[in-house]
Amino acid sequence: MERCDALARASDEPGRLTRRYGSDAMRQANAAVAAWMRACGMTVRQDAVGNLVGRFGEGRTLILGSHLDTVRDAGKYDGALGVLVALAAVERLQESRLPPPFAVEVIAFADEEGLRFHSTYLGSRAVAGTFDPATLELHDAEGVRLADAIRAFGGDPEAIACERRRSEDVAGYCEVHIEQGPVLEQLGLPVGVVSAIAGQSRIEARLEGEAGHAGTLPMGARRDALCGAAEVILAAESLARGTPGLVATAGRVDVSPGASNVVPGSAALTLDVRHPEDAARRSALDALSERAAAIAAERGLRLDWRVLHDCDAVACDPALSALLARAIADAGFTVHRLPSGAGHDAAALAALAPVAMLFVRCRAGISHNPAESVSSGDVAVALRVVDRFFDLVAERFEQEER
Ligand code: HGY
Ligand code: MN
Ligand code: MN
Repeated sequence: MERCDALARASDEPGRLTRRYGSDAMRQANAAVAAWMRACGMTVRQDAVGNLVGRFGEGRTLILGSHLDTVRDAGKYDGALGVLVALAAVERLQESRLPPPFAVEVIAFADEEGLRFHSTYLGSRAVAGTFDPATLELHDAEGVRLADAIRAFGGDPEAIACERRRSEDVAGYCEVHIEQGPVLEQLGLPVGVVSAIAGQSRIEARLEGEAGHAGTLPMGARRDALCGAAEVILAAESLARGTPGLVATAGRVDVSPGASNVVPGSAALTLDVRHPEDAARRSALDALSERAAAIAAERGLRLDWRVLHDCDAVACDPALSALLARAIADAGFTVHRLPSGAGHDAAALAALAPVAMLFVRCRAGISHNPAESVSSGDVAVALRVVDRFFDLVAERFEQEER
C-alpha cells in the first residue's frame, strides 16, 4: 500500500496523478519498480517499447503484471496495484519456499490507457506479438510521433517485433486489478474471478462547419460544429440507454476556435463504445456512424469518423481461471465470477497465452477518479490467493511433467 502511495507521487501534473506513456513520471515509476524488483533478486530490463520486465527463475514462464500508465487525474490503484501485488508475490516466493518449477515474470506495461496516443495496449501488444507498426505514426497533442517517443524513452521501434513471446514459452498470464465496479462490494466479497473482458471501440468524430460572429450570424444561417457534436453525443447516450449491455461515453470534446463570441467552426469528440458481445457493439457503432452522418448532413457539416481502437471481447481461460477460483476457495472465500466492462492488458495477452484475472473490491466501484480506493485487508486476501495460485500452478506443472 505504501508502494502504491509512492508510485502515485510519480505524476506528469502537480497535485494530481496523471502518468502518460514515455513521460518523466513514467521513467520515475519504472525506476522505483525496477529497484523493488532487483531488491528481491529479479533480473530487470526495460524492453523495446518501454515495458519493465522483472524475471525470477527458469523454464516456462508464468507472467503476472498490469500497467503503470494512468488516465488523467487518476486513482492510485488502477494498474499499479496489479504490478505491486505481483511483485509482492514474487518476494514471498523468494522467502518462503523452493523455487517453483516455472519462471515468473512481472511485467509493468508501458501503455494500457492510451492517454497520450489514443492507442491502447501498446506494451502488452508488443509482448503478445500483435503490435501494429502503423501505430508508430500516431502523434500526441504536441505532434510527437510515437516512434520518436519510444526512442526518447529508451526504446527501439525497430526492435519491438523481437519482444513477442512464443506461446510455447508462456504457461499463462494472470492479472490482479481493482474491479472498477460495484459488484464485489455489493456481494460483500474481497475478490472475484473475471469471466470475460468486454470488447471496446474508440472513435474520433470530427465535425467541420463554419466559424462565425456570435452576435451577427443569424441562427438559420449557422453551421455550428459544436451543436452538431452535442447532438451526436446525446444520440450515443440515448442508444446506450436503450440497448441492454451497451455503454457509450463521450470523454473528450475539442472545440475550435474556442472563443465565447465565436460560433464553433470545428469540434472533435471521442466516443468509447463497449458491449460484452461483439456483434452488439458493432451494430451500435454502425447505427451511431449513420446517425452522425445524418446529423452532419442536416446541419451542413462535414463529418470525419475515425476508429482509433477496436478490441473484441476476450474470454478468460477456463482452466487457468479454475486454478484462481480454487485458490480463492482454499483461502476461505466464496468464489464469484464476473465480467469486466473495463479493458485490461490481459485482453491483449490472450492472443499469446491463457489469461486469468483476479478482481479486488474497490470502494463504491469508483475508478478513473482520485477517490479510487481499496482496503489493505482485501489486498492481503489477493496476495494470499496469488500465493496459493502459484502452488496450484506448480502442482499442475508437476502433474504435466509426470
Ligand atoms: O478504459 C479502460 O477500460 C481501461 O481503463 N483502459
Ligand atoms: Mn484504467
Ligand atoms: Mn487498468
